[in-house]
Amino acid sequence: MRKTFSNDAALNAKVRGWWHANPFNYFVDAEEGSWAFYRNIDRKFLKWIPFMQKGGYPFLTNYIDMKGLKGKKLLDIACGTGVLTEQFIRMGADVTAIDLTPKAVELTKKRLDLYHLNAVVMEADAQQMPFADNTFDFVCAWGCLMHMPETEKAIGEIHRVLKPGGKMLAMMYHRNSVHLRYAIQLGRGILRAKYLTYDDQSLINRYTDGAHVGGNMLAKFYTRKEFRNLFSQFSDVMVAIHDNHGVPNQLPHPWLPLGKFLPKNVKEWVCRQWGMTAIITGTK
Ligand SMILES: C[S@@+](CC[C@H](N)C(=O)[O-])C[C@H]1O[C@@H](n2cnc3c(N)ncnc32)[C@H](O)[C@@H]1O
Repeated sequence: MRKTFSNDAALNAKVRGWWHANPFNYFVDAEEGSWAFYRNIDRKFLKWIPFMQKGGYPFLTNYIDMKGLKGKKLLDIACGTGVLTEQFIRMGADVTAIDLTPKAVELTKKRLDLYHLNAVVMEADAQQMPFADNTFDFVCAWGCLMHMPETEKAIGEIHRVLKPGGKMLAMMYHRNSVHLRYAIQLGRGILRAKYLTYDDQSLINRYTDGAHVGGNMLAKFYTRKEFRNLFSQFSDVMVAIHDNHGVPNQLPHPWLPLGKFLPKNVKEWVCRQWGMTAIITGTK
């Protein structure tokens, strides 16, 4: 049975501590806070999610009418290093960015200072947001809702702070993915017998974000049906599954990457069926 984590303050504190110590810097080794640091993060972000935009800047154009954000009130949840915050500001949106950790707030503020950009950037918990009802035209929650003990509550908060007719986009992890089912549960859990030492949730935490430092505190994966249930209070909900072709390329194993000989359309089909990245969009 899947674990539930409702109202788990101790776990939330652990999640906060972990992300504060391990800010999501895409393994960039340039001097933290430098121009090279932020631009290398942007480059890696683009390489990781080619399916989100045609070409390069601005990001996310396949899912967000970026030009249409001009003058709109936008909330960027879990700003991390400000990779998306910067994009939204450059499109002319009136941006508020939040993150659970002081480190992410510091890194996002440094990025904006570097480019003389302005936004409200503050420490806040998405599960309990300090904003009035019906405040924002657009809410983006990229790579964060699955790290929160109370994911349902955070989604309810997104709905609450959106204006009627406002739109949201979230990126979360897809459960029926090569990454989870094949690499983690089969590869690590069963074939390498890690299920002898980890329960399923601990195994997932161990081998997703932060695998190089022993794993993170909480990473939840959902099926398409579960996403639809989670976001059922929104209308026009769409769930799209993606990955980049690096995933099928490495099948059946990174040491035997026969998948790279698959036709491009087969690789794309694998990514759309069993990719790890779920993009959820909806309207209040
Ligand atoms: C994988 S990182 C993604 C950061 C950024 N969105 C990006 O793509 O680079 C996850 C982020 O979620 C933040 N986070 C986790 N729980 C949160 C919460 N309850 N409220 C706000 N931010 C949270 C973490 O501090 C961390 O910065």
